[in-house]
Amino acid sequence: MRWDGLLKSYKEFLPITENTPLLSLNEGNTPLIKLERLSEEWGVELYVKTEGTNPTGSFKDRGMVMAVAKAKEEGSTTVICASTGNTSAAAAAYAARAGMKCIVVIPEGKIAMGKLAQAVMYGAEVISIEGNFDQALQMVRNISEKESVTLVNSVNPYRLEGQKTAAFEVCDQLNGAPDILAIPVGNAGNISAYWKGFKEYHQVKNSGLPRMHGFEAEGAAAIVHNRVFENPETIATAIRIGNPASWHLASAAVKESQGKMDEVSDDEILAAYRKLASTEGVFAEPASCASLAGVFKQLQTGGIEPGSKIVAVLTGNGLKDPNTAIDCSPIKAILLPNDEKVVAEHIKGVVHV
Ligand code: F0G
Repeated sequence: MRWDGLLKSYKEFLPITENTPLLSLNEGNTPLIKLERLSEEWGVELYVKTEGTNPTGSFKDRGMVMAVAKAKEEGSTTVICASTGNTSAAAAAYAARAGMKCIVVIPEGKIAMGKLAQAVMYGAEVISIEGNFDQALQMVRNISEKESVTLVNSVNPYRLEGQKTAAFEVCDQLNGAPDILAIPVGNAGNISAYWKGFKEYHQVKNSGLPRMHGFEAEGAAAIVHNRVFENPETIATAIRIGNPASWHLASAAVKESQGKMDEVSDDEILAAYRKLASTEGVFAEPASCASLAGVFKQLQTGGIEPGSKIVAVLTGNGLKDPNTAIDCSPIKAILLPNDEKVVAEHIKGVVHV
């Protein structure tokens, strides 16, 4: 069956009027993949929602299609956002699609290469500040109040409206909600959006409610420690955020669902990142793997029961951040002469191991 994107597919659940342009890059409808090997190894029923298959390679497309469509409907000509990279890629793409301008403010040196490539290709005005995401967000919030630009960070409520559709898909794909929804947490919008989505779908379809397990990076774990991190640090640059904007919504989601907010170290994130790709063939960016790292951690510490049905959200595509992949992989290309005999000899050694 033809898929026409989120605004057409979930019209009745979204704030769409007859004047809302049905903007689309055919976002949504992403796979839910069962991790057969890890399920067996860890004694659970484990699935991943591969949001990296969205048009710009992350879950941000779900929220951005809605936010940019509403900005266009309201007569705005320019959108603005702060970003650790994925929001800016999605904003720039949907702005281009809608014939609008896009301004992005990013932390200098702390966004993955693929994301920067996207912002420039989609034609955004890219401003790189010598500051972190939290400072960039404060800046664009202030500027959007004074200038005629529309803020499309997740403090724009239309973003969460679009992002909640992922929960609908999970329920349809599994024929009901899982026991646990594991998700990375940065600015805390996505966990809040999923919870909203599960609740709304349950009301209409009786699909059930999961426990929400959110995972922050240890060096940026504001919600876990209940304090702002002034200088957040993690290899997972997408979630290098010390003062999440949707902090209270995320805490409410965890509390209402009887879930947990927890933290994972960079080493745990990288171990999950490599394991996911090398044992299951799924390549997700480091921040995404905080969800999987968290599941592994909580299976060991008793935070998740053996046998649980778990969906881990993989928020972004592995290709977004090629540098981290190459730097952290134990595999290096083997340099050999341009000589078939030498190559054949080498392969024999590999095959017979
Ligand atoms: N995973 C990825 C790949 C992300 O890019 C982000 C957020 C998150 C998880 C966390 O989601 O903020 O809703 O809790 N990236 C934002 C950005 C901040 O600018 O692209 P959240």
